[in-house]
Amino acid sequence: MLKNLKLSQKFNILLLAVFLGAVILSGSAFSALLNHNAEREVTAKANLLLQTMLSVRQYTLTQVNPELAPRLETEEQFLPQTAPGYSAREVMEDLRKNADYSDFFYKEATLNPTNLRDKADPFESQLVEKFRQEAKLKELTGYRTSPAGDLFYIARPIKIEKESCLRCHSTPEAAPKSQLVSYGRENGFGWKLNEIVGAQIISVPASGIINNAGRAILLFIGILAIAFALAMLVINWLLRQTVIRPLNKMAKAANEVSMGNMDASFEQTSDDEIGNLSEAFNRMKTSLIMAMKMLGRGE
Ligand code: HEC
Repeated sequence: MLKNLKLSQKFNILLLAVFLGAVILSGSAFSALLNHNAEREVTAKANLLLQTMLSVRQYTLTQVNPELAPRLETEEQFLPQTAPGYSAREVMEDLRKNADYSDFFYKEATLNPTNLRDKADPFESQLVEKFRQEAKLKELTGYRTSPAGDLFYIARPIKIEKESCLRCHSTPEAAPKSQLVSYGRENGFGWKLNEIVGAQIISVPASGIINNAGRAILLFIGILAIAFALAMLVINWLLRQTVIRPLNKMAKAANEVSMGNMDASFEQTSDDEIGNLSEAFNRMKTSLIMAMKMLGRGE
């Protein structure tokens, strides 16, 4: 098929094929790399935040709770500040007031929560169910869509590992009176030891980072396209100047000579292969003239 095409067409077709191959190969390699990096960045952010929330919980449990625990028995209203989940959630709400973090979420999504704001939505319930079914599963990560754009989440199971938790989460009778006053008798009871009751879920916005990666890929392909376009222009120009034009001239001169116009000459414009060719043609023309002269004499 290539045989019937002109030189410049062949070159351009080959160049285009190389260009497409290069764009597809390098584009997909580059986008895999960028997406991998974007995911790592998002995961690192989410992990940092999750660890921070764990520390807030720990601080509440070890330092705030012991101070306030006696007051739980005497106060009318429950002091939610004693609950680690409450402090983590409140710290997060405060962080979210900062516009840069408004799309970050932390939730102790629970199937049967004490505070209804911790109620797992259908998506979160699915994650909790997975943890309940596979005891070995320690973490789930992934993306979920939200009105604010795609979110990357890390979820970890919440397991009741301490007997002490059951005081407030087993039966209303065992719980402090103040808890019943604040939260009622319906929610957050009936939990069992070693049961997975919910999942800690941290969500961080992912669309921004992923869009950035997308833009970088487009920019990369754009620059590659410009580089190739320039290369094609230069190669075409060189081809025309050094090969096509001289060859056309030579073909024209050869035609003239073949029709008997011995004044036509093969102009040698360069010292490269094409120049050698025109030199050879000139020598052939000289030989031809001499041969013809000799033939003429012989008659
Ligand atoms: C003194 C009572 C008390 C004890 C002890 C207690 N909790 Fe709670 N817990 C609560 C209350 C009250 C809330 C609701 C706080 C709020 O308003 O966010 C809560 C909230 C939670 C939540 C968030 C979901 C929900 O129910 O709203 C989890 C998870 C949780 N507790 C787990 C535990 C674990 C695990 C332990 C043991 C280490 C424990 N709790 C010990 C009273 C208690």
